[in-house]
Amino acid sequence: MARRRYRDCPPRATLPASTRDSLLLRACRGKTVVRPPVWLMRQAGRYMASYQAIRRDRAFLELCHDSELAAAVTLDAQRRLEVDAAIVFADILLILEGLGLPLDYVAGDGPVLGRPLRSEADLDTLAEPAAAAAACGYVADAVAGVVAGLDPSVPVIGFCGGPFTLASYAIEGGASRQFAATRRFLYHQPAAWHRLLDHLVDSLLPYAAAQVAAGAAAFQVFESWGGALTVGDWDEFVQPHLARLVAGLPEGIPVIVFAAHAGHLLERFRDAGADVIGLDASCDLVATWDRLGGSERVAVMGNLDPGLLLAPRARLLAAVDRLLEEVGDRPGWVCNLGHGVLKETDEAQARAFVERVRGVA
Ligand code: CP3
Repeated sequence: MARRRYRDCPPRATLPASTRDSLLLRACRGKTVVRPPVWLMRQAGRYMASYQAIRRDRAFLELCHDSELAAAVTLDAQRRLEVDAAIVFADILLILEGLGLPLDYVAGDGPVLGRPLRSEADLDTLAEPAAAAAACGYVADAVAGVVAGLDPSVPVIGFCGGPFTLASYAIEGGASRQFAATRRFLYHQPAAWHRLLDHLVDSLLPYAAAQVAAGAAAFQVFESWGGALTVGDWDEFVQPHLARLVAGLPEGIPVIVFAAHAGHLLERFRDAGADVIGLDASCDLVATWDRLGGSERVAVMGNLDPGLLLAPRARLLAAVDRLLEEVGDRPGWVCNLGHGVLKETDEAQARAFVERVRGVA
C-alpha cells in the first residue's frame, strides 16, 4: 500500500499541536504561513566555532555515537541560528557501519569505507537489516534528546541517505566524482545491485521508523549524488527502490527528498511520493516548481546558493530578497540553501540569511 501524501492525511497524532501547526509542517502540507519557514542543510558543523570546540577532543564518529552530545550539538546550532527546524546531528553513512562496513572519516579525505562491496559474495557479509537498524539506535536516542530540549513549535527532522548515494559509498569505498565502480557494478551485476539496494532499503525503513517513533516530525532522504545517473538508468536501477523507501516511511509526517544537480529527476522524486522536493541552486525555483505541478501538487525546499554566504552582506541579502519576492505568497515553500553550508562560511552570514527570511533584519 502506498503511503498517503502528508497533505492527504491527518498529521501524526502523537505530535504536540504546536509542532503540527509549526511553520515547517504547515508549509510541507502546502498551507499558508505568516512567513516561510527557514533552516539550513548542514546547519551544525565545522563552520561553527562551538562545533569545532566540541570536535577538538573527539572524532566525528565518537560524537555521532554519543546521543547526548549529538543532541547538544543539534540544539546548539538551532539556538544560535534561530532556525525553524532542528535536524538531528548524525550522518547518512552510519547505517553502512551498522551493516558491518568499517567506516572512518579521515581529515581532508572525507569518509572512507573499508571493504568496499564489489561482488555478489561481498553482500553475504552484510548484517541483517533489523540488526543494522538496531546498531544505529543511538540516532533515535539523539532525536529524543533534541525533542526534549526544544520548544515543540520547532520540529525535529530525522534523515537517512538515499539508496543510490549509500550504495555508491559502499561500492566506491568513499567519495567519488565519476562513480566508475558504481556504474560498473550496476551494469555488470544488475541482480547483485538490486539485491544491495533492497538490503539498504530494508535497513533504512526500521532506522527511519525509530527516528519517527522518537519524535522526528519530518524526514529527509538525502539522495545527494543521484543526479549522476541519466533518467533511463535512474528508472531502471534506482526509482523502484526510492519509491519503496518513501512508501514505507511513516504516514502523518512530511518526507523531503533532496538531491544535488538532479533537475532531470525531480518528477521521479515527486512520483515516488515525496511531499517536499529539495531543489539545488542550479534550478530556477519558481519555474521548476511550476513544472512539477506547483503548490497544488507538491511543496519545495531551497534553494539559495550556499556560496552566497561567502559574499559581502549586501549581495547576500539582495539575493535573499530576490528569492523571497520571486516565491511571493505561494504556499508550500521551505526556505533553505540549495545544498549544505560550506565549512568556510562565517556563522554571522548564516544568521543574517535566517534573520532576513524571518523578517527581523
Ligand atoms: O545538517 C546537519 O546539520 C546534520 C548533520 C549531517 C551531517 N552529514 C554531519 C556531518 C547531515 C544531514 C549529513 C548528511 C550527509 N553526509 C550527506 C548528504 C548531505 C549533502 O550534503 O548532500 C553526505 C553526502 C554525507 C557523507 C559525508 N559525511 C561526507 C562526504 C563527509 C565529509 C565531507 C564533509 O563535508 O566534511 C561527512 C562528514 C560530516 N558529516 C561532517 C558533519 C558535521 C564533518 C565531520 C567533521 O566534524 O569533520
